[in-house]
Amino acid sequence: MDRLSEAISKARAARGDSPAQAQSLPAVTTKAPVRRWHPEDITARWQALKQVSLSRRKLESSLIVAKDGGPHSAPFDMLRTKVLHQMRTNGWRRIGITSPLMGCGKSTVAVNLAFSFARNPEIRTMLLDTDLRRPSIANMLGVTPSASFFSVLAGRVQFEGCALAFGPNLCFATNGRPHRSPSELMQLSQVADELDRIDAEYDPDVMLFDLAPILQTDDALSVLQKLDAVVIVAAAEVTSVKELDQCEADVAANTNVLGVVLNKARSVGQNYGYGYAPS
Ligand SMILES: Nc1ncnc2c1ncn2[C@@H]1O[C@H](COP(=O)(O)OP(=O)(O)OP(=O)(O)O)[C@@H](O)[C@H]1O
Ligand SMILES: [Mg+2]
Repeated sequence: MDRLSEAISKARAARGDSPAQAQSLPAVTTKAPVRRWHPEDITARWQALKQVSLSRRKLESSLIVAKDGGPHSAPFDMLRTKVLHQMRTNGWRRIGITSPLMGCGKSTVAVNLAFSFARNPEIRTMLLDTDLRRPSIANMLGVTPSASFFSVLAGRVQFEGCALAFGPNLCFATNGRPHRSPSELMQLSQVADELDRIDAEYDPDVMLFDLAPILQTDDALSVLQKLDAVVIVAAAEVTSVKELDQCEADVAANTNVLGVVLNKARSVGQNYGYGYAPS
């Protein structure tokens, strides 16, 4: 909090707020009402997040190919552009990534999509690991969070105590270990409040949620209603049409289906450059 307070004080000083005004603003506490913050306070919050360095080798071994652009990134850049178009058309910010069953590549798609978004310096992107039963983003990135995101959602830890930033406009909220009862946690009204608070305090242009699969547990179902739209990831030659239909129906009953990504496709043509075929 010290770093954060200092950064916000500097932002206020830069825009000429008097110390009296600055001191009269309420401290951020877990039960504080959601309010809109001054843009410079929001920038200061992003700047105060702990920066993380990432190993190229680790990213490559996790199939994270969209950090620097180039041909391997092309399918994710196409997906990003389609998602962004839908977001702007519909005023959406909270986008979930799910699949019918586990292992289809949700987390791989979510992390690549986050990096692809983040290459646009005008877009602030958050990637939130809400697959609490099988969290994997920290491991994919090779990072260790000081606190797990589920502790933020439960109101026990401030967002800045968990989030790790990569550059000025991308941050990750990950979990160091699984949560024992994710479905019950995600149903708490506190979780909606905490997400609203993060939304207000950091004003991200896109919040990507790595979700649990839809058909195996009810973990993701309680999150869907807090989202604007969802991308469904299907695994080529693994996901059946019946599973995809059921997954789409379950998602559509709760929020908007943004589209389906066919992942792990063996033959997608040279233009796609990698094993993904966003639809
Ligand atoms: N396009 C791809 N080509 C080859 N392997 C892939 C591809 N996408 C993902 N994988 C691999 O498939 C495995 C599962 O991927 P990932 O963890 O992203 O899936 P998930 O849907 O998030 O799984 P879970 O349900 O366990 O969270 C990983 O080993 C990953 O490296
Ligand atoms: Mg996953």
